[in-house]
Amino acid sequence: MTTIVVLGSTNMDLVAYVAHPPKRGETVTGRAFRTVPGGKGANQAVAAARAGGDVAVIGAVGSDPFGERLRHALEASGVDTDLLRTADGPSGTAHVVVDDDGGNAIVVVPGANGTVTALSPGDETLIAAADLLLLQLELPLSAVLDGAAAAHRHGVRTVLTPAPVQPLPPELLAVTDLLVPNEHEAAQLTGVADPLGAAQALLRQVPEVVITLGAAGCLHASRDCAPTVVPAPLVRAVDTTGAGDTFTGALAVALGEGRPVGEALRWASCAAALCVQREGASTSMPYRPEIDASFAPTHAPEDDTP
Ligand code: RIB
Repeated sequence: MTTIVVLGSTNMDLVAYVAHPPKRGETVTGRAFRTVPGGKGANQAVAAARAGGDVAVIGAVGSDPFGERLRHALEASGVDTDLLRTADGPSGTAHVVVDDDGGNAIVVVPGANGTVTALSPGDETLIAAADLLLLQLELPLSAVLDGAAAAHRHGVRTVLTPAPVQPLPPELLAVTDLLVPNEHEAAQLTGVADPLGAAQALLRQVPEVVITLGAAGCLHASRDCAPTVVPAPLVRAVDTTGAGDTFTGALAVALGEGRPVGEALRWASCAAALCVQREGASTSMPYRPEIDASFAPTHAPEDDTP
């Protein structure tokens, strides 16, 4: 079983479903409101655990009622929360507007996530025993750097989702094995709008890149093999929140199991396609049998080379 540690955020997503998002100065009426456990770190942890990984999370929830609910949601999906601290004060929140096409706009207020500025005793031991460390940018950069450096010291593969996007310091890039931006983040990081060009630019900084392209699938590029686009299953999206996190969590499990990269990418795409057909972030993430069932008809075993 793939052992995965996620160093990342937990947020309560406060989600309003609307026909179209309000413009500045406009008030619109939504059709529904939900509170859904989310946060890029917690989402990746839940996705990986449901996909069959042995997963632990490092981060913080607040001392408010959201904090307890966030912790329980992780545990209910089988994520180990022993190193998830409870910080005095509010949990992280994400204010999400989902439109009728399934697209979203999100404002994140870090809350307890902002208290995780460095690794705590025990964190490095946990990371050292993992196959992969998953990181995003919703914790303070100092903690992300600490975690990635610790993983690198112990030969643990690091997977970084550069979201919310910000310039990446060279010392973080130096300890990143796989970078997984979406196409907008890749363009912002490189100044190159075309995903293939952006991937080539990123390969000068990290050895392997997967750029997620939404309904168009993903682009894989590494220093060892030619770039390839892996198409996504054709589905009708109702809510894309957490789709990228589902993809990354499932991808980490498949890579940790030693599956060929092309197969791992297609399997992770099936997981993300299942996620977008349901509302919410962590609540919409599929369990392994469902991913396998949707993957089987699309997969020809001889077709493993990306
Ligand atoms: O990637 C989706 C997540 O981003 C949401 O769950 C929200 O919490 C924000 O962190």
